[in-house]
Amino acid sequence: MKTIEIQAETKISRIIIGERLENLTSYLPKGKTIIITDENIVRIYGKALPALPVIVMGLGETRKTMETLDFIFDKLVEFEADRSTFIVAIGGGIVCDVAGFAASVFMRGLRFGFVSSTLLSQVDASVGGKNGVNFRGYKNMLGVFNQPDFVIIDTDMLQTLDKKEFCSGFAEIVKAAAIKDESLFGYMESHYAEALENVPGVMEKLIYDSVLIKSQVVQQDEKEQGERKKLNFGHTFAHAIERNTGMLHGEAVSIGMVLAAGLSVKMGLLQPSESDRIRQILHLLKLPTSLKVDCPALLSGMRKDKKREGDFLHMVFLDRIGHAVIEKISFNQLEKLSYDLC
Ligand SMILES: NC(=O)c1ccc[n+]([C@@H]2O[C@H](COP(=O)([O-])OP(=O)(O)OC[C@H]3O[C@@H](n4cnc5c(N)ncnc54)[C@H](O)[C@@H]3O)[C@@H](O)[C@H]2O)c1
Repeated sequence: MKTIEIQAETKISRIIIGERLENLTSYLPKGKTIIITDENIVRIYGKALPALPVIVMGLGETRKTMETLDFIFDKLVEFEADRSTFIVAIGGGIVCDVAGFAASVFMRGLRFGFVSSTLLSQVDASVGGKNGVNFRGYKNMLGVFNQPDFVIIDTDMLQTLDKKEFCSGFAEIVKAAAIKDESLFGYMESHYAEALENVPGVMEKLIYDSVLIKSQVVQQDEKEQGERKKLNFGHTFAHAIERNTGMLHGEAVSIGMVLAAGLSVKMGLLQPSESDRIRQILHLLKLPTSLKVDCPALLSGMRKDKKREGDFLHMVFLDRIGHAVIEKISFNQLEKLSYDLC
């Protein structure tokens, strides 16, 4: 078991890698705690949950909405939550994003923690304090920065994860390596087969290294004024792809990274051979790397991206594997450069 701490503006957030769901109660403060989780977690892990009031969300990105927040707030009132109530979210990125947001705004903010149960949320979504919901289909349009008190990363829970969901999580590990850590990228290239088999030693390294990269970036720039923007590599395309296709987040990020690496080559920043390595590792990790998309629809989706500033976007490019740069690019330029990529 390993712990990484994020010293955030208002608190220390502890991420405990290798801790187990069964030990959750030892992390809870005295007083009332309410669990927020989803239908699959209740079905698979219902017996392992502590005897506490439970709010059960529906499944999927289409539930990451204001309507789900309404439902959660109704339940919190029904359970007589007050300002001293602690919220614990148990689930993947969707449960953590929604529950973290609900906890952050209910009665001006309740303390909360996560038990992170998917690979994608263990390496990325549950770490760093971005909580939020989609609005009219646009990703994470409403949200807050607010750190959980703790994140328990129970790697045993990955055993029950659907293969497609499991592979989706690799996209965010590739992203972390591509922007910050060439040696982690190389490790993935040499250990992808064991990773696909969920071999414990390999997975623990991949999860630990990804969390370390993210926590260092968050500690440096919690509110995404600069360095943290690099974690959005591939995501400007990905959010538009998710909206247009309903693909899983990690699958859309995979295609988004291939497009962003292709653009980096076109901008003269990245060697074509490096862009090929990115496509290749994603392919080996069973992630999609191309998509027949309607380019104008994709670009119009990107105009709604949170990173937009008027007619410009701040996009993340690579100048080598392990090193990202942020460039301001106009939509016109993006349209021209992307034309034969998608
Ligand atoms: N806040 C952030 O910084 C951040 C970063 C990256 C992604 N995200 C968000 O994360 C979301 C995607 O998260 P996700 O991929 O975890 O999706 P998810 O939460 O929908 O989980 C995927 C599926 O796996 C099921 N599941 C969860 N744990 C399981 C387990 N142990 N065994 C069996 N089934 C299990 C869930 O019920 C769900 O059906 C997206 O909305 C994305 O925008 C947020």
